[in-house]
Amino acid sequence: MRQDTSPTLVGNSAVLAELKDEIARVAKSDAKVLITGESGTGKELVARQIHLQGARSHRPFVPVNCAGLTETLLESELFGYVKGSFTGAHRDKVGKLQLAHRGTVFLDEIGEMSLRMQALLLRFLENGEIQPVGADTSAARVDVRVISATNRNLAEMVAAGTFREDLMYRIKVVHLHVPPLRERAEDIRILIRHAIERTQSGIVIDDEALQVLERYRWPGNVRELQNVVEQMAWLGTDGTVGVQDLPAALLAAAPPTIMRKHDRRRQVADDLFQTLGAGTHKFWDHVYPLFLARDITRHDVRELVRRGLTATSGNYRAMLHLFGIDARDYKRFLNFLAAHDCNVDFRQFRNGAAGRTDAAPVVTVPDGGSRAPDSGRYVN
Ligand SMILES: Nc1ncnc2c1ncn2[C@@H]1O[C@H](COP(=O)(O)OP(=O)(O)OP(=O)(O)O)[C@@H](O)[C@H]1O
Ligand SMILES: [Mg+2]
Repeated sequence: MRQDTSPTLVGNSAVLAELKDEIARVAKSDAKVLITGESGTGKELVARQIHLQGARSHRPFVPVNCAGLTETLLESELFGYVKGSFTGAHRDKVGKLQLAHRGTVFLDEIGEMSLRMQALLLRFLENGEIQPVGADTSAARVDVRVISATNRNLAEMVAAGTFREDLMYRIKVVHLHVPPLRERAEDIRILIRHAIERTQSGIVIDDEALQVLERYRWPGNVRELQNVVEQMAWLGTDGTVGVQDLPAALLAAAPPTIMRKHDRRRQVADDLFQTLGAGTHKFWDHVYPLFLARDITRHDVRELVRRGLTATSGNYRAMLHLFGIDARDYKRFLNFLAAHDCNVDFRQFRNGAAGRTDAAPVVTVPDGGSRAPDSGRYVN
């Protein structure tokens, strides 16, 4: 994949225009900024823009991912370490905060920091002093602008005792929120055009397919959109992309008028089943929103359940894994199916029990109760 050389925010929607104004305003100051938003919405891009449009633009922008590292590694990543402080520390190492001197440090996924790391960060924010791992005293004082990002709700984490309230206020002098792509569908076409340019493939997406892409909910936001475009660019055959070339999960979002032509009924359940099975999509994140938005019908969900029951020989619980559902959500799943009349009698999928109404006269339900034979559709 080609790297973005010009990290501008692409999009014409009113919300994005407002965000660009806010970026320009906060770039003029040194205020600490917290950027929130779902995964893939462009939080890092916003942070880079703030840095680039400010007085520190000629100095480094240093991103640190607070989620991917263990606590000890994150500490030495941020503050550095001195030779001999742990096995393998053969020489002193300068931390990212020091590397970002006079520039900007971007603390990504700050909601994942342990309480101990939060205390160390707070101390640094209060006095600007760096104490490398293994050092007795502070090594240096640095001047960095701090921009943080998270897709978590920090106020909720404060209430739950997993994030320090004093740290939250300190990093959130200015709060910018990047809205999910589904709330600014006007940006989708131009983002697709931009993503195609990035691939340098010159593919053309026909209007029908564009309509489907515009209606899709994009749970993975702009990153997902870029991945989908890349997939189409390199898998496409003759340079033109039509509805039939779209990845399976997107097809389910196609308007019925379009999908009728493409044999919608059979395909939707097959495609959903295939994407769930591949592990790239999950029932609650992908299928459920499609159903709520009426992009798929209860018939489609029932067909999907049928495929699940076929694969598990009639075992509802075994379908959880298949559909990417947490075991704790078993009851929620069953309630959802019951509430929308999407449940399917499992008995016809049991080996040798096809069509026999006496095969499971009383069926245990997840809460330990039981159901009358005629409504007996689940089994533990
Ligand atoms: N408005 C936009 N215009 C152009 N590219 C964008 C836009 N928003 C996001 N992108 C691109 O989408 C990808 C994901 O963006 P980014 O990494 O900034 O998201 P994020 O919110 O930090 O996601 P995560 O929480 O998953 O880290 C990047 O390649 C970024 O360049
Ligand atoms: Mg990010």
